[in-house]
Amino acid sequence: MGTEDKKQRAAREALKWLDDARLIGVGTGSTVNHFIDALRDLRGRLDGAVSSSVASTQRLKAMGIPVLDLNAAGALPVYVDGADEANSRLQLIKGGGGALTREKIVAAVSKRFICIVDDSKLVRVLGGFPLPVEVIPMARSHVARELVKLGGRPDWRRDFITDNGNHILDVHGLTILDPPALETEINQITGVVSVGIFARRPADVLLVGESTGVRTIRG
Ligand code: A5P
Repeated sequence: MGTEDKKQRAAREALKWLDDARLIGVGTGSTVNHFIDALRDLRGRLDGAVSSSVASTQRLKAMGIPVLDLNAAGALPVYVDGADEANSRLQLIKGGGGALTREKIVAAVSKRFICIVDDSKLVRVLGGFPLPVEVIPMARSHVARELVKLGGRPDWRRDFITDNGNHILDVHGLTILDPPALETEINQITGVVSVGIFARRPADVLLVGESTGVRTIRG
């Protein structure tokens, strides 16, 4: 079974975790695209969605699902999103698609965070995937130097501007043994908008698409 099929399996399983929510948070990425496609059957039941990116907003609207401003929506019962890496404590690296800041905001206001991945994303130690850090453009070099001091090799994601008008540094070479501590440390660097470690607010449920089915890991 290919990776896309596994992503689709995890995405469809997430429908079972929506309960009777009428308003949901929706993340970004290829796995989430499968989830949005799977929402087709629930369209009439949903009042709408809060989206973490322009790309997901377009896909949701094309599906006929209203997209609400988070400030108008308030707290959300459930948020479904993918990840670039996940460990057994449900701590994540996110931001491969560059939407990490809005994803973090939606995760923060959601009661339950359901993360959907294929089994290639499960790791023992986070950091194999280059860690995305969103930065204010004028602070890019300063933040990069600070990240070098932390042992990383930051690489500017050229030709990419986030939905918030900022730049992304992808940090290679980190072995993240204490994800909450590193999340806090990088958040303290002046000029950082957000870091793609989701450990202070990890996922609550991880749905892992495998060739034999979907594994559910609860926090
Ligand atoms: C988007 O910024 C990311 O956080 C995505 O959630 C992550 O990159 C997973 O993407 P895929 O589902 O495409 O692998």
